[in-house]
Amino acid sequence: MSWDITLAPQAGLEPAHPAPEAGALSTELLGLGQAPIVASADRALAWVRRCGAVSCTAVSVRPVSPRRVDGPETLARLAADPPEPHLLPMTASIGRGGLAVGGVELVALAKQYGTPLFIYDEEHIRVRCREAVAAWGDGVAYATKAFLCTAMAVLAHEEGLCLDVATGGELHVALSVGVPPERLVLHGNNKSEAELARALEVGVGRIVVDSFDEIDRLGRLTDAGSAPRAQRPRVLVRVTPGVEVHTHEFVRTGQEDSKFGFSVASGAASKAVAALELAPGVELVGVHAHIGSQVFDVGHFEEAAVILAEFFAPLSLSELVVGGGLGVAYVNGEQTPTQGEWAQATRDACEQAGVAPGTRITAEPGRSIVATAGITLYTVGTVKELAGIRTYVAVDGGMSDNPRPVLYGSGYEAFLPREPAARRPRAVRVVGKHCESGDVIVAEARVPDDLVVGDVLATPVTGAYGYSMASNYNKVPRPPVLFVRGGQARLVVRGETFEDLVRLDV
Ligand SMILES: Cc1ncc(COP(=O)(O)O)c(C=O)c1O
Repeated sequence: MSWDITLAPQAGLEPAHPAPEAGALSTELLGLGQAPIVASADRALAWVRRCGAVSCTAVSVRPVSPRRVDGPETLARLAADPPEPHLLPMTASIGRGGLAVGGVELVALAKQYGTPLFIYDEEHIRVRCREAVAAWGDGVAYATKAFLCTAMAVLAHEEGLCLDVATGGELHVALSVGVPPERLVLHGNNKSEAELARALEVGVGRIVVDSFDEIDRLGRLTDAGSAPRAQRPRVLVRVTPGVEVHTHEFVRTGQEDSKFGFSVASGAASKAVAALELAPGVELVGVHAHIGSQVFDVGHFEEAAVILAEFFAPLSLSELVVGGGLGVAYVNGEQTPTQGEWAQATRDACEQAGVAPGTRITAEPGRSIVATAGITLYTVGTVKELAGIRTYVAVDGGMSDNPRPVLYGSGYEAFLPREPAARRPRAVRVVGKHCESGDVIVAEARVPDDLVVGDVLATPVTGAYGYSMASNYNKVPRPPVLFVRGGQARLVVRGETFEDLVRLDV
């Protein structure tokens, strides 16, 4: 699904087509001299009107995610409904004490551990890991950038996944809990000599090569020619298939204009393959690509798979890795493909494009493993009603524990765990406690009418790229992380203290 509205320069608002389902879609505006703005269609068009099309030549209107929405009424109803069950962790249940996950009541956890608090449904993560292994087979890797701590590294390894690490730090965390190096895949568009040296020293399973400079670096680090073939580090070439997916610009990676990988279209990818085939110190085993994150349309994966497969098939290599990127639903009305559907579509496309049977075709899901397993709990600190403007509900966290709304304009649901099935007629903006007007957690939130100061407020689907992107902005300590399962809560990352905030100062 995609629509483009083209505005003639300086011509005011005369779109070639009316915005489909205006108000129901997320849109991306491309303004001359402006950073892209992600907004609802209504707000996007209002923005264009305000500009008078003076600084705006083209507006691309397209759904960032396919929502089951057939009109503004459905959207309004969906917004006021409680969060749909598939936005909650798998073991979520409603009892007398409100919402429980893993058999533990969330309000009680907030009382015991304080807020903000990250809670992960361990069973949910394990089920998603098993689905990934069933869909892709051995070699499928968990992309640790989505969420990593030692407990998560152990869990993913226990469930049979390899671990994709993108920095020396992620490598260190995985190694520190005994994940065997051969189960690790090292990524990164700018791996340092030290990171590569460490990877070679411990013997990581795969290195995904991203640039000609890295090929040179690897050449210097490997003792050219002396190691028997079987002992040489196994490498894959990361390529950009030139596919633009409908997701936020900052998480699109498969297009030609990218800092990642070697372009197929320009011939750089073929040159990289040739260089690595000649490099005596490494063993080229495959090709890798990652087209972007939060991709909802299996068609994009198919499109990329065909380009990749056509590049890959003549090379007679044994491994093709299609990266991660499977989208997850964040708000009511969103639907996503399953890991099985993603894998099947990819395999079919590869087969049709001539990839030899027996080729190891695999992937690196991150978000789809952990996002929905996680919930963040906050405490409401202030409710500020600005007559005729909006109501601000401020909580005790913010962009330091969830930078995604600020970075990508991402949407979330918000609800009260004490009344998880309550309707949410009240429109508010949930904001954090940081010294930024942009410190927004849910821009267009709906909450029950009886929300009051002191309530525990939850945002679901915060398991991916929340804690892993958390910061100490404004010297706010990072929250603790709990795994819950079978009626027990287990602290897997303790919350930072004020002491921690001065620990590094010398
Ligand atoms: C190379 C690579 N693989 C896998 C992933 C994981 O993507 P996702 O979390 O969307 O599944 C990423 C995310 O940026 C990535 O860069």
